[in-house]
This record gives sequence, structure tokens and C-alpha cells, in this order.
Amino acid sequence: ASEAAKPTILVAEKLGAGGVDMLKEVGTVDCSYDLSKEDLLAKISLVDAIVIRSATKVTREVFEASKGRLKVVGRAGVGIDNVDLAAASEVGCLVVNAPTANTVAAAEHGIALLCALARNVAQADSAMKAGRWERSKWVGVSMVGKTLAIMGFGKVGSEVARRARGLGMTVVAYDPYASAEKAAALGVTIVSFDEALSRGDFFSLHMPLTPNTKGMFNDEAFGKMKKGARIVNVARGGVIDDDSLVRALDSGVVAGAALDVFEIEPPAADNPLVGRPDVICTPHLGASTKEAQEEVAYEIAEAVISALNGELTPSC
Ligand code: MLT
Repeated sequence: ASEAAKPTILVAEKLGAGGVDMLKEVGTVDCSYDLSKEDLLAKISLVDAIVIRSATKVTREVFEASKGRLKVVGRAGVGIDNVDLAAASEVGCLVVNAPTANTVAAAEHGIALLCALARNVAQADSAMKAGRWERSKWVGVSMVGKTLAIMGFGKVGSEVARRARGLGMTVVAYDPYASAEKAAALGVTIVSFDEALSRGDFFSLHMPLTPNTKGMFNDEAFGKMKKGARIVNVARGGVIDDDSLVRALDSGVVAGAALDVFEIEPPAADNPLVGRPDVICTPHLGASTKEAQEEVAYEIAEAVISALNGELTPSC
């Protein structure tokens, strides 16, 4: 292609070098991270594609500011809840994602949090660093023989199930779209939402954030759980109603939670969950392994290039 026909691609969040190099082969790449909303609005009409992770919100205002030039939004990850899909389709902009490259990383982080939650790893570490040797305070619970309820049995949920079976857990899953046969092949039983709530000793959440899943874990859902349940969320903050979780923790229905994701990221300083000793937190690290980020960069670069060439239907 001639220089004039080359697309301009804005990489708005850190992307693996291999993916950036692929993009540079087809277009002019502008890597500008941590743009303010105003800077993004100013730049967007100058680019044909934008590549983002979860921090950049591609809102209707952004699509309008692009004045029809933006043709592709590439989400370097799975969740596309930070893109206004209705506005994208109104202006004829394709939205593509990287649907597979970080699956194992997210599942591994879920398992890491599950183990940390069962054995108070984070709390005991903090205590030791503060000079306290608290052996009886941080007695944990075992995972073997316990029931893990996987809420959302897609790619990540299935990988969590595989690993949890290896830990000797009974695994049930709730997912209205999952195949019972495929689940059975992994030793997992598909159950209703209510049955999952009543059976789980541990919960691991893996559903996308949609209008249907927003606030799904509310007072009513927590009210159906066994007392002393533990909950891991590496999906999206918005699927849990924070105030309901606070009440469930206060009443002892939920004995502990491990949260990697928050409705607002980073969470506000006065977020009622972050400072609690029965809640452990990580800053949206599910997809953040060196290996996954390299692969995600290739996967999204390929999808963006195909979309710019008009070769593809959106992958998400
Ligand atoms: C995802 O949806 O895949 C994750 O949020 C990825 C990320 O951390 O960007």
C-alpha cells in the first residue's frame, strides 16, 4: 500500500511489542498511553483504528468525536463492556477482541485467588510483614471435597474447572448457554442459578458484564448461599452488587472474598470492600502474565489488521 493509504492506529494502552510490530507493518502506529478523556477525544478523529485494554472507555462521545474516521476498535482482551457497541454499529465501526489468548492466565489467577482465600495467604503475609507471627489466627479451610460453583462456564470457567478438579473439588457450574455434555466430560455438573448458590462452598465468577448479569450477586443471591461461602471474582466488578457483598460479609454468609475486578477501576479510596481484612484484592491482573500479554498482542493485532482490510466479521 502507498504511504497515503496506510491506516493510522492508536494504541491507547500497553500492548506486547510483537503485536505493535505487526501493526507497524501495515500502518502508522501512535502508542499514547494514559490519555486523558480530552486527549482521546482530540486524537480520535485522526485515527482509523484504536487498540485498548480495559481502562479506556470507548463511549458514544468518542465515536461521535471520530467524525466517521474510526473504523476499528480492537480490545486486547475478552471483555468488551468498555465499548459502546450500539454507538459503534451506528457509525459502522467494527469492534474486535482477543477471545482466547488470555484464557489460561485468567483461570490461573482465579485459582491463585481461590487458594489464597482458603488459606489466608495475603492476610498472613501482611501480618508477618508487620512483625506478627499469627499461627492460630490464620487457620484456613481446605478445598479438597468442597464444592466449587463456577458461575459462567465459558472458556475461563472451563479452565478453572479443570484445575479445581485436580485439587479434589466437586465442581458444579451455572451457565444458561453451556453444554451439559461438554461439562460432564470435565467432571462438571451444570445446575440452575439457585442450585449453584445453595451448593457452593466456593464461588468463582466468569460471566461477562451485560445488562443481564449486572448486579447478579445481590442480597437475594447472597441470601441463597450457605453460611461461610467464599467468593472469587476475576470477571467484572459490576456483576457483584458491592453493598450486598458488604452486608453478606458482615452477616457471615460470605466468609471471604477475593476480588480482581471492580465496578470502578481503580476503586475509590472509600470503597467499602478494599480495606476489609476478609477481602483480598488484586488490581485487575487476571490477564497479566508475560506470556498472555504477548499472545494477546498478536491476537488483537491480527484481528485489527483483518478488520482494517475488511476481511472479517467481529470476533466478539
Ligand atoms: C479481559 O477481558 O480479557 C481482561 O479484562 C483483559 C485485560 O486485563 O485487559
